[in-house]
Amino acid sequence: MILVTGGAGFIGSNFVLDWLSSSSAEGVVNLDKLTYAGNLTNLQSLKNDSRHTFVHGDIGNKSLVEKILNDYCPRAIVNFAAESHVDRSIHGPAEFIQTNVMGTFNLLECAREYWTSLEGAEKEQFRFHHVSTDEVYGSLSSSDPAFKETNPYEPNSPYSASKAASDHLVRAWFHTYGFPVITTNCSNNYGPYHFPEKLIPLVILNALNSKPLPIYGDGQQIRDWLYVGDHCSAIRKVLASGQLGETYNIGGWNEKANLDIVNTICSILDELRPRSNGKSYAEQITFVKDRPGHDRRYAIDATKIQKELGWRPAETFDTGIRKTVQWYLENPVWVEGVFTGSYRDWLDKQYRN
Ligand code: NAD
Ligand code: TYD
Repeated sequence: MILVTGGAGFIGSNFVLDWLSSSSAEGVVNLDKLTYAGNLTNLQSLKNDSRHTFVHGDIGNKSLVEKILNDYCPRAIVNFAAESHVDRSIHGPAEFIQTNVMGTFNLLECAREYWTSLEGAEKEQFRFHHVSTDEVYGSLSSSDPAFKETNPYEPNSPYSASKAASDHLVRAWFHTYGFPVITTNCSNNYGPYHFPEKLIPLVILNALNSKPLPIYGDGQQIRDWLYVGDHCSAIRKVLASGQLGETYNIGGWNEKANLDIVNTICSILDELRPRSNGKSYAEQITFVKDRPGHDRRYAIDATKIQKELGWRPAETFDTGIRKTVQWYLENPVWVEGVFTGSYRDWLDKQYRN
């Protein structure tokens, strides 16, 4: 067994599906609080798969986490559970501190106690894999080299500060207690099951719903983009052969300005689902007020994971973004399911002006 936290979210559910797609895979216990971002529909194909056990709960709940560890005896924990959206962290940072900092702290302490009780090979082989973000490194100028694992932490948003704090806790648990951890810091993911508050799914669905495509500021902010399936394969690789106490940057070698991303999505949609008036979806692009403290550029140097573990992304941006747009076109029932009242309230709060 492995314990996955946050496995009903975007990356976590892709990871669980990917993991269980191999018939020889170990089972998964999936602990998720089912916040607005958690969606069990993502895991519907596992409904009759006895290798997947879902537990509804909070990583910050000590007695629940202890019980799961004692009942299922996982040989590894992969921690995806987090509040993950920068804009929401600006509106309300408290949940980010609660889950990303206090929740990770609780998970670490429960896991350490469990690991201490193990013996022999079980103790030797146990892993705590913490899934983190490149945003902990702060913002780059256009001429700066890409983030390496040795870059200092300079988080700028409540989200990235809370993730940075969690990374520091994980690091300290290794150095102080010898607790067997590995951290990965990944760039922006995109792909199936992505909640449409983030740029790529928001733009695809707004385009199809004849709504404005909101570009913050001048749209020249740069992110490195990685197809979610590649993130999953990197985590598998690190879990299998990463060095304890190490951190690995994961990225797509794929820096793009936001405006270019949005134009690419528009041209794929123009081809796959042309507008009835024959005009391009790019007509819907609308420049809106910039995000406060908006980081200008992120870029990942993924040389270490390539050299040491032999991992490279399989998708290019062209292949990954096309698959992604196609997925949203082919899954209207999933899309309908996320258009709940709370999602509409968020759009109103964030984009009203
Ligand atoms: P997400 O917001 O889609 O999913 C988060 C999941 O965690 C949800 O299912 C939610 O219900 C669950 N959750 C939240 N609080 C919880 C709690 N207290 N206890 C248990 N479950 C809880 O996020 P995501 O995009 O899938 O990101 C997953 C992880 O990867 C996060 O740690 C994030 O920081 C990291 N990450 C994300 C990206 C990205 O581009 N999305 C990039 C790099 C790293
Ligand atoms: P996002 O998907 O929220 O990820 P992150 O902030 O973690 O990088 O945003 C990606 C980029 O797109 C970021 O520079 C902010 C920008 N953006 C917009 O321009 N408009 C939008 O409506 C959203 C959600 C994001």
